[in-house]
Amino acid sequence: NAMFSWQRTAFHFQPQKNWMNDPDGPLYYKGWYHLFYQYNPDSAVWGNITWGHAVSSDLIHWLYLPFAMVPDHWYDINGVWTGSATILPDGQIVMLYTGSTNESVQVQNLAYPANLSDPLLLNWVKSEKNPVLVPPPGIGLKDFRDPTTAWIGPDGKWRITIGSKVNKTGISLVYTTTDFISYELADRYLHAVPGTGMWECVDFYPVAVNGSNGLETSVNGPGVKHVLKASLDDTKVDYYAVGTYFLGNDTWVPDNPTEDVGIGSRLDYGRYYASKTFYDQNKERRILWGWIKETDTEADDLAKGWASVQTIPRSVLFDAKTGTNVLQWPVDEIESLRLSSSEFSELVVEPGSVVPLDIGSSTQLDIFADFELESSGLREAVGNDIAGCGGGAVDRSEFGPFGLLVLANDALSELTPIYFRHGKANTYFCADEKRSSKANGISKQVYGSQIPVLDDEKFSLRVLVDHSIVESFGQGGRRAITTRIYPTEAIYGAARLFVFNNATGATVKANLKIWQLNSAFIHPYDPLHQTE
Ligand code: FRU
Repeated sequence: NAMFSWQRTAFHFQPQKNWMNDPDGPLYYKGWYHLFYQYNPDSAVWGNITWGHAVSSDLIHWLYLPFAMVPDHWYDINGVWTGSATILPDGQIVMLYTGSTNESVQVQNLAYPANLSDPLLLNWVKSEKNPVLVPPPGIGLKDFRDPTTAWIGPDGKWRITIGSKVNKTGISLVYTTTDFISYELADRYLHAVPGTGMWECVDFYPVAVNGSNGLETSVNGPGVKHVLKASLDDTKVDYYAVGTYFLGNDTWVPDNPTEDVGIGSRLDYGRYYASKTFYDQNKERRILWGWIKETDTEADDLAKGWASVQTIPRSVLFDAKTGTNVLQWPVDEIESLRLSSSEFSELVVEPGSVVPLDIGSSTQLDIFADFELESSGLREAVGNDIAGCGGGAVDRSEFGPFGLLVLANDALSELTPIYFRHGKANTYFCADEKRSSKANGISKQVYGSQIPVLDDEKFSLRVLVDHSIVESFGQGGRRAITTRIYPTEAIYGAARLFVFNNATGATVKANLKIWQLNSAFIHPYDPLHQTE
């Protein structure tokens, strides 16, 4: 379908056609990264949920494989829903997933690879014992889904957690097991937060307080904190918090109760949901996937024949500098797509001005930029308090907004600003979709958040531009904002990149390094004509 073909991404993962939602069961096995995903084989809207499957040797260049699991048993006939993989110490792979039954009850099922000597893990067997878990007493039949990767305690028992709710309190249930077939429900919740509603796609993992490696899911002890993430069904936002996991009673406590799961930090302040991490034993890192949903109409999705994209996989580390947040950063392998680069140093951008960056094609970019406000005294002394991202990049204040205009046309009538707004007490990191498209029927928002900028730091950002997806990372990944936009004029050769400064009271000095990125040419795996 050539319609809207300029919206197709060049290096983000998306199926050839039809609907996709959550990433499922990511893992690394025998030289291949595996990504499974919620997929509708029949249409560009949600339904008939099946597990799509793709592999890559570098997390960037993907090959589509045949479906891993389809809805074909009473316990998953209404959908093979979200799940997670666990690699056991003896090399076995356990896949736990939610099935929606013939009566639309949410149950947990077990599957495993038919042939562990197949690096592609093409065939999956569903356990004869399915379902292995049904909603326990007191839990709604449709409020019990998305089992996590399992972790093992010193007692030799595996634990998983599953999101749910009781009235309006979001909760995560803990189960212990030794064989992944029979389970015991713990008497405490891993955690609960009143008012947050149903928790979907709970993710739970350790992070090292210091160091640049990710941790295997079962690691605990001194120097380890635990991240708890929930995807809030009511608002479709992924929230997380950093805290401490107590193995003794399988509970988790946030470092800062006022910044708890669902009321504090988001993993991504833009269009982003149902994320999931896995530990990559190949490169000793933890990798995060997230689903970027459409913001156009269902009719448009049906007309273009596809819906949704996955983010670039991001590594996740604890931010020892702030002690409050994780750092998300595109995996290093994205550098394999780099073509030519351009550099601009000490570019002076006067208040109220826009500077074009003459870099040629601007639809597939990896942009690094840092900014300084003209007088060093400005950071602390004067200026007014600002609250949030304002009404977008047109909303001027003394020290902002300033930043980039991506996927912009020459006339500057279609553009997406990625920017900072700086005030007396706070800095905000923002993305403004308001002028991103001239098409009708698109929901356009101003996204953003307060961002920690430490005393010795410049304002810095990294932006990945891929036709209709813009992933932005502030201050080394303390905050991320993903936007799904629908440019109509700023496409292909007509797309441009600008630096702007809309502050009323400060000149901005910018340094930029911009890489053109190649396409990843995702294609079906063909055993006879394998090029990898
Ligand atoms: C999240 C979600 C999950 C569920 C799946 C169904 O987007 O609703 O809770 O397992 O999608 O496709």
